[in-house]
Amino acid sequence: MSSAHYPNVYRAADDRYEPEAHSPMPYNRCGDSGLKLPAITLGLWHNFGGDRPLETQRAILRRAFDRGVTHFDLANNYGPPPGSAESNFGRIFAQDFRPYREEMVISSKAGWYMNSSPYGFGGSRKYLVGSLDASLKRMGLDYVDIFYHHRPDPDTPLEETMSALDHIARSGRALYVGISSYSPELTRQAQSIARDLGTPLTIMQPSYSMFNRWIEGPDGPTDPSVSPAAKTSLLKTCAENGMGVIAFSVLAQGLLTSKYLNGIPENSCLGNHKMNSTFLNDDTLEGIRALNAIAEERGQSLAQMAIAWALRRPEVTSALIGASSVEQLDDSLGALDNLSFTDEELRTIDRYAVDRNINQWQVATDSRD
Ligand SMILES: NC(=O)c1ccc[n+]([C@@H]2O[C@H](COP(=O)([O-])OP(=O)(O)OC[C@H]3O[C@@H](n4cnc5c(N)ncnc54)[C@H](OP(=O)(O)O)[C@@H]3O)[C@@H](O)[C@H]2O)c1
Repeated sequence: MSSAHYPNVYRAADDRYEPEAHSPMPYNRCGDSGLKLPAITLGLWHNFGGDRPLETQRAILRRAFDRGVTHFDLANNYGPPPGSAESNFGRIFAQDFRPYREEMVISSKAGWYMNSSPYGFGGSRKYLVGSLDASLKRMGLDYVDIFYHHRPDPDTPLEETMSALDHIARSGRALYVGISSYSPELTRQAQSIARDLGTPLTIMQPSYSMFNRWIEGPDGPTDPSVSPAAKTSLLKTCAENGMGVIAFSVLAQGLLTSKYLNGIPENSCLGNHKMNSTFLNDDTLEGIRALNAIAEERGQSLAQMAIAWALRRPEVTSALIGASSVEQLDDSLGALDNLSFTDEELRTIDRYAVDRNINQWQVATDSRD
């Protein structure tokens, strides 16, 4: 595309909060906090590393902000290589978004593997504080809005990780703190410690989609020998503990779109080996086809229905999506035009919206409970 499409001086769309052409973005209160998050958040895990053209990244970010997406989700290790998504975001931020900083919620995380030093993985105070300082430098920011511990770490006392988050907030490096991929029980314990320290956890970031429903259950009386706390779902735990929920991979890394209906395109997450190739099998494909037909009957794309479906739960504050092009982003934001479902639609969807063994983050969740 010619540079004429991307003028050097960016001015955000004047109608970004009240567009005439589309449904406006809803902003939902995050748990018990005063922070409002857009119903759809853009994540920079894939598609923003050193392997992607900066101009495409910039076009996606501009379009998102022009359409009311105020929240951008990053992590220290996003790339490839690790760190490059934050560096690229920093370059684009400096050129385009600095005048809009107060309108943006920018998130980062540490916890997963960043480097092979003893301080490049886990939940220690040493890793979290040092990593966030490096993230702030890469992005050219004074503070992030939300900082997460990215995954549970069995080798660090929970008290140390929560006190690191408390320190990070008190030192002004982050306005809010959260956790990702923690089990319901560990979430309850973490929130109890965080509250005692005086910096409650505002948000939980778990994987969730029509093909990965672990955060919904089990609720209710099943095995009487299991304690009520251990039976409580992650969604209910978060609601009871004042935490918002931002659901990631609601498109199951692209499986819940029309993209794989007729084979594996070269320019796809699966085609580029960024997703486990076993995730797309005959059973899953049958489910995708059935769900695509339901979406068509609703007058939506499958991606739009998958996003609307994740947002149907009142506990879900925001659906966190990825996009490799402006076209994909526009399609996904079209979910806002129809967010409601009839009971009958939900019952039909339930037949195909079943766990398909794609929760690659389960190992981290189970690593400590
Ligand atoms: N906390 C954690 O541990 C964690 C883990 C994973 C992700 N996340 C966060 O969640 C964000 C989203 O994760 P994800 O990338 O797995 O999300 P996703 O939304 O499930 O999948 C995004 C991929 O789906 C495809 N896609 C998106 N919109 C489409 C559309 N309308 N039509 C057709 N295909 C479409 C694209 O694939 P192609 O690239 O194939 O075009 C895109 O890269 C990440 O960026 C990150 O911020 C957090």
